[in-house]
Amino acid sequence: MSASEGFRSAGDPLGDTASAGAPAAGPAAACRGVGKTYRTAAEAVPALVDVTLTVPRARVTVVVGPSGSGKSSLLRLLACIDRPDTGEVSIAGERVDRLRARARRRLRRQQVAYLFQRPGENLLPYLDAVGQVRLAAQLRGAAVSPGQARALLERLGLGDRADHRPAQLSGGEQQRLAVACGVVGSPALVVADEPTAELDTAAAERVLAAVADLAGSGVGFVLSSHDPRVMAIADGFIRLDHGRVVPS
Ligand SMILES: Nc1ncnc2c1ncn2[C@@H]1O[C@H](COP(=O)(O)OP(=O)(O)OP(=O)(O)O)[C@@H](O)[C@H]1O
Ligand SMILES: [Mg+2]
Repeated sequence: MSASEGFRSAGDPLGDTASAGAPAAGPAAACRGVGKTYRTAAEAVPALVDVTLTVPRARVTVVVGPSGSGKSSLLRLLACIDRPDTGEVSIAGERVDRLRARARRRLRRQQVAYLFQRPGENLLPYLDAVGQVRLAAQLRGAAVSPGQARALLERLGLGDRADHRPAQLSGGEQQRLAVACGVVGSPALVVADEPTAELDTAAAERVLAAVADLAGSGVGFVLSSHDPRVMAIADGFIRLDHGRVVPS
């Protein structure tokens, strides 16, 4: 059985979904001719210009480029937080730019996870780690038992923190828990904007090891970073310069 088939198989710690057993096909996300301009009273700033790209499943894609090149803007479009002004954005084969607000929220909830830079912002303060993972799965329509949640936490080296609330976890442990919540329930895409920016070296390396491990299970990760340790786990790169994709 391939890793992506195992991802959705019954009893998998990443969650049993309605489509259990059916491996997802097609890219996690795609953009075609995407443009995004921020307009203020004084000026219009073109942040993304004619961006065409795909983000594959089961891979770690890293968005690189100088400060101001449009990395965060691209990630917010892929995470369905913002809309493009022009062009097409698809997640798991569905055109996000054409959806109305409610359908876009549903697609985002089921198919996309967005990790904030500050680990604590990804988590609810009153739930322990098992509860966070189970809630994240439930929001995606997947059933995850306490045992499955514990197995996933174990895989991320958090087995002995399963009953801890976020305030009782270190920053690196919080970010690994956020990664667990991101992948549980088999979304197509996990988006993380500079996920190691707030972590020390050891914590960053454990978070990145977790990302690399879980990408093999089928989800497409797209990360932005200036951090060479993030680049070291990349299966592919998207290079941006002044809002345009630079051919590699
Ligand atoms: N809300 C906004 N209003 C106006 N301009 C914005 C806004 N957000 C971003 N920009 C501008 O859009 C361009 C792209 O910004 P973006 O944040 O996507 O870059 P980035 O590659 O993530 O940079 P960094 O590496 O510094 O995080 C920049 O010129 C920025 O100043
Ligand atoms: Mg940025």
